[in-house]
Formats: sequence, structure tokens, C-alpha cells
Amino acid sequence: MKNKKIIIAGGSGFIGEEMIRYFGKDNDICILTRQVDNGINNRNHYQSLRPEELNRVSWVQWDGITTSEWVKELDGADLLINLSGKSVNCRYTEKNKQEILSSRINPVNTLGKAIALCKRPPACWINASSATIYRHATDHAQDEYNGEFHDGFSVDVCRQWEKALYDQPTPHTRKIALRMAITLGSGGVLIPYFNLLKFGLGGHQGSGKQMYSWVHVEDTCRMIEWLYVHPELEGTFNCSSPFPVTNKIFMQTLRKLTGYRFGLPAYEWMLKAGAVLIGTETELVLKSRWVVPTRIKETGFNFRHPFLEEALEDLVRNIPRKQYHLF
Ligand SMILES: NC(=O)c1ccc[n+]([C@@H]2O[C@H](COP(=O)([O-])OP(=O)(O)OC[C@H]3O[C@@H](n4cnc5c(N)ncnc54)[C@H](OP(=O)(O)O)[C@@H]3O)[C@@H](O)[C@H]2O)c1
Repeated sequence: MKNKKIIIAGGSGFIGEEMIRYFGKDNDICILTRQVDNGINNRNHYQSLRPEELNRVSWVQWDGITTSEWVKELDGADLLINLSGKSVNCRYTEKNKQEILSSRINPVNTLGKAIALCKRPPACWINASSATIYRHATDHAQDEYNGEFHDGFSVDVCRQWEKALYDQPTPHTRKIALRMAITLGSGGVLIPYFNLLKFGLGGHQGSGKQMYSWVHVEDTCRMIEWLYVHPELEGTFNCSSPFPVTNKIFMQTLRKLTGYRFGLPAYEWMLKAGAVLIGTETELVLKSRWVVPTRIKETGFNFRHPFLEEALEDLVRNIPRKQYHLF
């Protein structure tokens, strides 16, 4: 994909940075952020990116709630990607729950309004969603056709998030909800895992039998490009490797590639106590996420990193050893 204008709302975080790495050299990227004044327009914010990846990037202030000057950036753009949302890595207090929800719904509604104001709306809008929309699955894999949702806070958030997207009347902009599995890149979720390894806690979590659906972030970006260049594709797509593993295999593979012979497991009761102390929820590691990307495979898309060991090897190779070893 070359010389397109890509708007990335919420692009200042982990996945946004990886998208700049992938699309930044050949395309114009505009990041919508609430934090231009806090230095997010500053190239130093993206420690891992090279200057040539940042040359065509600009940062524009928005609040995710109101339409204002920033709408001009969207008018005439080719692709809109929306990644906005408060991190779910927190305790699910009423206040946090409200913020997790509103930080996803408000930006979607606001982007919908902005598209309606555009003379030349973007051809395609890809909105983040999450593979956690599917139920705790221990019996079979969930895909876009057979997937079941059940109840629960995070499932409800994802359902409302996708509903908000599909409710926007955008006759000239096709919409895609990307149900992303745990996304592996040079930051994000690997950082807390590295911290566990450093302190000898790199064993499995809970029973270790819960499924771990994951995707290499390069495949996330490749999938976005694929969806954009195929104008016949719209609707909901799982964005996950075709070969999920168990939590035990994930931790074993991570230990092997980072040079740890063993790691203590964390049983459910330990996680419950620990989660309160470090301000997170056990659901993030104990839920069995068993998700496969049926729809995108039907379109002929091939994953570059379908297997966990190779995918992690590719990532760990580029991460400084000091990030996963104390010495
Ligand atoms: N990482 C994963 O494994 C994964 C898996 C499934 C789904 N997802 C979803 O994918 C999206 C991106 O993930 P990520 O890991 O890149 O997250 P991230 O690093 O936390 O970045 C999310 C961005 O959302 C923006 N944001 C936060 N609160 C907001 C609010 N109230 N209004 C508007 N914007 C707000 C922030 O941008 P500013 O502060 O610059 O405005 C932030 O940079 C998230 O919605 C996440 O739920 C991620």
C-alpha cells in the first residue's frame, strides 16, 4: 500500500506504534490523540521507530467526543483506523468499567459524525474490537460463524463497541470490526510477561489448560492492508493466528526463547490475591480464549507468522536482552 492517507485514532499506543512501523515509510499517517500538548507530537514518544518511519506522520489533537478542526484531516483520507480505548489492564471498579466502555463508544460515535461531515469520506473504516467477545471456550474454537458470546462485562463492552460501529450511517465508507486476539509485538503484553520471567514466575497461569489466542502484530497490519485493498470485504473479522495454543505452551515457548529453564506457575488463588495488589483482573490471564480466523482465511489471506514459536522468535530477536533478563 503506497501513498495513502491513513488516519489512526488512538494511534499513540502500542498497536498504533506498530502500525506506524508498518505503514509509515510509504504512507501519510495522521494520529488523532488527546495528548498533543503532553508531547505525543514529539517523535521521542516512539522510542522504537526509525526516523524514516516517522517522516510522514503528523499528530492532531482531538478529544474523542466532539467534532472540530481535526475533521479536516479525515476529509479526503483513504483509510480510517480506530484504536481508541482505555486499557483493560485495571481493576473493574464501577468507575473503570464506565471509562472502559465510554472511551470506546464515544470515539466511534464521534468518528461516525465526522464521516457524515466529510465531502470525501474515507473508503474504509477499520475499528478495533476484541476476540474476548467470545465466551470462555474449552470445548471448541470460536469463529465468526459459530462463535457464542454469553454474559460478562468484557463481552458486553465488545458487543456495544461493535454495535456502535455498525449503527453509524456511512453509505460511502465500508466498515470492518477487527476482533483482535492478544497482539504480540515489541511492547504491549510481552512486557508484563518479561517481568514475570525475570522474577522466576514464568510458569503457566491457573491450570495452564486455558486457550491462548494470539496474533503477531505484523499480521495485524498485513490483515488491515488486505482488508483495505479488497473493497468487497466488510463486516466482522477475527484477527488471530490460525493456531492458538494453551497458556502452558505459550509460557513454555516464551521461556525457551528467552533462555529460562524453568518458571514457577501461578495458581488461581495466587493470581486472585496478586491481581488485587497489582490492580488488574484475573480474567485477563484465566479466560480461555479459543478463537480462529475463518473469514479472513476464506478470502485467501495467508499469515506470515502462523506458528507461535516462530512468531515469538521473530519478536524476541529484536528486543534487547535487558528487557527480559535482570542481568
Ligand atoms: N493490545 C492487544 O493485545 C489488544 C487486543 C485486542 C483488542 N485491543 C484493542 O485495540 C486497541 C488498541 O490497543 P493498544 O494495545 O494499542 O492500546 P493502548 O496502547 O492502550 O492505546 C490505546 C489508545 O487509546 C487512546 N485512548 C485511551 N482512552 C481514550 C479516551 N477516553 N478517548 C479517546 N482515546 C482514548 C489513547 O490515546 P491518547 O491518549 O493519545 O488519546 C491510547 O493511546 C484498544 O482499543 C484495545 O482494547 C488490543
